[in-house]
Amino acid sequence: MKAVGLYRYLPIDHPESLLDLEIPAPVPQARDLLVEVRAVSVNPVDAKQRAPKSQVETAPRILGWDAAGVVRAVGPQVTQFRPGDEVYYAGSVVRPGSNSELHCVDERIVGRKPATLAFSEAAALPLTTLTAWELFFDRMGISKSGGDAGRSLLILGGAGGVGSIAIQIAKRLAKLDVIASASRAESIAWAKAFGADATVDHTQPLPAQLAALGEREVDFVACFSDTDRYFSEFPALLKAQGRIGAIVRSVRPVDLSILQPKSLSFCWEGMFTRSTFQAPDMGAQGDLLREAAALVEAGVLRTTVKEQLGRICAENLKHAHQRLEQGHVVGKLVLEGF
Ligand SMILES: NC(=O)c1ccc[n+]([C@@H]2O[C@H](COP(=O)([O-])OP(=O)(O)OC[C@H]3O[C@@H](n4cnc5c(N)ncnc54)[C@H](OP(=O)(O)O)[C@@H]3O)[C@@H](O)[C@H]2O)c1
Repeated sequence: MKAVGLYRYLPIDHPESLLDLEIPAPVPQARDLLVEVRAVSVNPVDAKQRAPKSQVETAPRILGWDAAGVVRAVGPQVTQFRPGDEVYYAGSVVRPGSNSELHCVDERIVGRKPATLAFSEAAALPLTTLTAWELFFDRMGISKSGGDAGRSLLILGGAGGVGSIAIQIAKRLAKLDVIASASRAESIAWAKAFGADATVDHTQPLPAQLAALGEREVDFVACFSDTDRYFSEFPALLKAQGRIGAIVRSVRPVDLSILQPKSLSFCWEGMFTRSTFQAPDMGAQGDLLREAAALVEAGVLRTTVKEQLGRICAENLKHAHQRLEQGHVVGKLVLEGF
């Protein structure tokens, strides 16, 4: 089967950073679905996993953790899906990724594809939806059913892949007042189109901009950007007893004590935690994707696709990695067909 992968971890402009390959098709084991991948989206995690280092792989490493496709075969312990089912999922970072014609994924972290979306529109959603949903509802303890309605949320990085779906989840499910950060005309317009009540510019000091909006401090901050850069600013941005959610691993040690005077809570989200550690509630991700699909079909949530970059091949994936490494992508980049 066709696949795109790497043997060496190289800068993206190196001719061998990503390679078009022919590799054997995987065989579904235990609770695996064998999925014919129709479309994928590309996330910053792909570029981070590919980042230059000296390690050399003996078998090709396949990246890609967002896919939509059709189940072609199932492992012996599968109970929830059958061949022919259309599905969408992010997968597991400790297994091969989805940039291959056929791909094995554990059924517990798979949802049925929203019926109203094309494969490319569906492939844009799983990783970012899982991230924002788990962060808000499982980690930060925000009420999914409107129990926190009217409370304020500042999203740092409102127009990116995670931000575009997070704004929708925060507005439409949690019913929060959402202030999203965006620094350019295009990203400001995108964040507002997905439901942000207001925007602030993350290249300028934030407290004065919040004050100008009449929100001197907020109840919740979701940080979808550089945690190191923002950590020292959190106490000034949050009301007493506020909650912070972060998804980008800090590089430097952080001083937790600065959160103590206001009794601020800090929560990490790792979208791959449940699958990496085979958590007993790993199936919550499949449930979450099924619930999100129903919300898409009901018109409550919508796809965050911004651009279709062509078919799934090394050249087009390199283009996507380059764009993500520049840090100003709006919405999601998707590729379709091999
Ligand atoms: N822990 C997890 O499970 C998890 C899951 C998903 C993603 N992540 C990580 O979360 C980060 C965001 O992911 P993503 O898919 O949303 O990335 P993305 O789509 O590449 O995000 C791009 C957006 O970031 C904004 N941005 C750039 N500089 C910023 C700054 N200083 N402050 C705030 N926003 C800024 C840009 O807005 P402007 O163009 O307006 O500047 C742009 O719209 C990545 O580092 C990713 O690896 C972690």
